[in-house]
Amino acid sequence: MFTMGELLVDFFVWRQEWNVGLATIDDQHKTIIADLGSIYEAITRHESRTAATQKINKLIADSGTHFLDENVFMINQNYPAINEHVKHHELFMGTLKDFKYSYDPSQIDAMHKALLKIKEWFVKHILEYDKLYMEHIYV
Ligand SMILES: [Fe+2]
Ligand SMILES: [Fe+2]
Repeated sequence: MFTMGELLVDFFVWRQEWNVGLATIDDQHKTIIADLGSIYEAITRHESRTAATQKINKLIADSGTHFLDENVFMINQNYPAINEHVKHHELFMGTLKDFKYSYDPSQIDAMHKALLKIKEWFVKHILEYDKLYMEHIYV
C-alpha cells in the first residue's frame, strides 16, 4: 500500500516504460499525466470546485487535442485497427466529462479514487493501444 505522499509523488513521475518512442506523442502523454497530477493535488488541497474545474477543463482540452492528433496520425498511416482505438479515445473523453460534472470537493477519497482509475486507464491505453499502433508504423 502507498501512503498519500507516495501516491502523490507516483502521480507526477513519468516512467520510462510508458514511452512510445515518438517525442510529440510522448510529450502529449506527459502533459496529460501532469494534468492528472495537478487535479490530484487540487483534491488533496480541498481547492474549490471552480479551481478544480479549471484544471479538469485543461485535462479535457489536452486529451482532446492529443486524441485528435493520434486519430489523424492513424488515418494517415492506414492503421487497420483504427476504429477500436478511436472508440477507446471517445470512451475516455466521456469518462473525463462524467468526472467533471460529478466533481465534489467534499468527497476527497471518492475523487482521489476516481482520478486514480482515470490515470490507470490512461496508462493502460498507452501500453495496450498506443504502443500497438507505434509498432505497426515502425514495422
Ligand atoms: Fe490512443
Ligand atoms: Fe495516446
